[in-house]
Amino acid sequence: MQSQSPHDQITALRKAVMMHDELYYKKAKSEITDLEYDQLKLQLAELEQKYPKLVLALGTDTPTQTVGDDRSQGFKTAKHRVAMQSLDNTYSEAELREFHNRLVKLANKTDLSYCIEPKIDGLAVCVTYEKGRFARAVTRGNGVEGDDITANALTLYGLPKQLKPSKEFPVPDIIEIRGEIYLTEAEFQRINAEREECGQELYANPRNLAAGTIKQLDPKEVARRRLEIVLYGIGYCAPASAAGLTQLSYQERLRAWGAPTVEKCWYASGINEVWNAVQELDRIRHSFAYGTDGAVIKLDSFLLQDQLGRTSKAPRWAMAYKFEPERAETLLKEISIQVGRTGVLTPVAELAPVLLAGSTVARATLHNRDEIGRKDIRVGDYVYVEKAGEVIPAVVGVNLAKRKPNCIPFEFPLTCPCCGTQAIAYQGEVALRCPNYDCAIQVRRRVQHFVSKACIDIDGLGEAMVATLVERGWVVTLADVYRLPNRRSDLLSLGKKVEKSTDNLIFAIEASKTAELWRFIHGLGINHVGAAAAKDLALYFGSLESLASANALDLLTDKKDSIIEGIGETVSAAILEYFKFPSNAALITELRSLGVNPTAPIKNLALSNGVFAGKTFVLTGTLPTLKRDEAAHLIERCGGKVTGSVSKKTDYVVAGDEAGSKLDKALELGVIVIDESELLKLTS
Ligand code: IVH
Repeated sequence: MQSQSPHDQITALRKAVMMHDELYYKKAKSEITDLEYDQLKLQLAELEQKYPKLVLALGTDTPTQTVGDDRSQGFKTAKHRVAMQSLDNTYSEAELREFHNRLVKLANKTDLSYCIEPKIDGLAVCVTYEKGRFARAVTRGNGVEGDDITANALTLYGLPKQLKPSKEFPVPDIIEIRGEIYLTEAEFQRINAEREECGQELYANPRNLAAGTIKQLDPKEVARRRLEIVLYGIGYCAPASAAGLTQLSYQERLRAWGAPTVEKCWYASGINEVWNAVQELDRIRHSFAYGTDGAVIKLDSFLLQDQLGRTSKAPRWAMAYKFEPERAETLLKEISIQVGRTGVLTPVAELAPVLLAGSTVARATLHNRDEIGRKDIRVGDYVYVEKAGEVIPAVVGVNLAKRKPNCIPFEFPLTCPCCGTQAIAYQGEVALRCPNYDCAIQVRRRVQHFVSKACIDIDGLGEAMVATLVERGWVVTLADVYRLPNRRSDLLSLGKKVEKSTDNLIFAIEASKTAELWRFIHGLGINHVGAAAAKDLALYFGSLESLASANALDLLTDKKDSIIEGIGETVSAAILEYFKFPSNAALITELRSLGVNPTAPIKNLALSNGVFAGKTFVLTGTLPTLKRDEAAHLIERCGGKVTGSVSKKTDYVVAGDEAGSKLDKALELGVIVIDESELLKLTS
């Protein structure tokens, strides 16, 4: 880069920043860390400042002056009444102090007070309330207009549909409240585990997953994941009652209205108190529900904020101080290639073990072939490892100063490391895949998935045993699992003193023939069909045959008129695709002929005879032990129905911690409110 002319450097940097903007905002993926991105942008901004003539020559339309653009196809666009800007950011204490000095000069005041908030690592959203009722949710988009995600936002946990007015805090006629949509770490782990089971590419961090989820076109797909929201900012407001407020008192108002606000914020008078608050935030932020990548320092007075105004990109009165991600340097010993259940070839860095953010890291993802090429990562290099979004360790770069001359570029294998079949890059996918359905690793992983605890759960068929059975050629298809009882003598040949364990295994296989239907559906390994979807499908179809012969009409849901509760277009398409293969359809017949007879859920009985038959429930807040979908299943199993909003027709509201407007409505209408322990008592 250094040997390039400033003209070429600016052009290349603009292109790179624009590419990373596109990945981050539109594709909900990142190939570099926030720090690397911020450094690229800073380098570009410095060059543009140094060579203003070049900026004029190259065009003033530069990513340093815009806020990115998250708009995507399939959503209506909506204009923000007040533009949604970005924030200036820094990683240095000295620059934070400069920010304060700048404001002292601009405001002509020395005693400036600030509000310090966590910088939530989610995606920005603007929520409009009209006469206190939730009316619209729009993403930041390009700052001027964004995607209208109202339908999806209805599924957000914690978003009040109605703001609670009070004498002290009346709700304005129209108010735009700004905030951030996020996923908790636990929900991120749950979804990624399910994706791993389905052989799908994993999301790198909760932010990307939240962004990818809210941009799904089908609200039912969105509802399958627990997206949450936190609100902190203000846009348009009529009547304009905000002028006398401060950021801290605005938060108090939001809380009084029943809106979810930041977990903690600090008041600071002067820059030294600001710095103390920033450090305290850094110490405690890991206990927050959302990921935080920094602190946002805002002038507290709205009046002063207004006076100082904004630049084309960001307000002058606020600054984000970003925390450096934890990083370690270690030796890359080897790059191994993992073959997934669906044939995806994933490169994995085998590292000399190193301590990072409290745990020892010996392996890290390298994502895909392109990533290794782009970062020029070579075996024998000393690499930097980071916990991106503090979650999955990733190799983010190479310490070139330590590179040995004999270190050669990594050649990604073009064939499957297991079966040698030529790997293929399918259209629209970055990953290379082994297309050989009979590839031994794929067979092994398919069978391992089928018999795993999450699916049929056959005792005695652990991963090592499955590997042996596949290696011997005794198990090739899932149906072969049910042929194992006929191979008693083969099984006995696996070792001495195996008689008892062989008989136990045969017994477990026989017993599993009547496992619950959803376990079989999950076990088939259909893309996108995790345990939750399998349960919905089992309830609707009642048998494997009926699922196998489902057509698009049975499955494909018209968005407004869902036929199968909880099943969206992606899942539907994947099921059709799966049964298009004659061998998959034949598998169902084969399983049946081998005596498989899954236990179907008894939906009608439950509905008409359960203790909650005919009763309508609403769940609100966080329950102490049950997850929301667990509580919903429990109610449904007992014949009850779970709906989203409280009305006169609601029989019970089950309220947990931080129950919001639904609880108020229930109390207002005199609906019975119970807690989790009462729900459990009623159902036991
Ligand atoms: S205030 C005019 N406060 O960070 C923009 N933003 O990197 C005022 N963010 O665009 C934004 N936590 O999406 C503000 N406590 C917080 C925030 C926050 C996260 C996001 C926001 C912003 C981005 C800038």
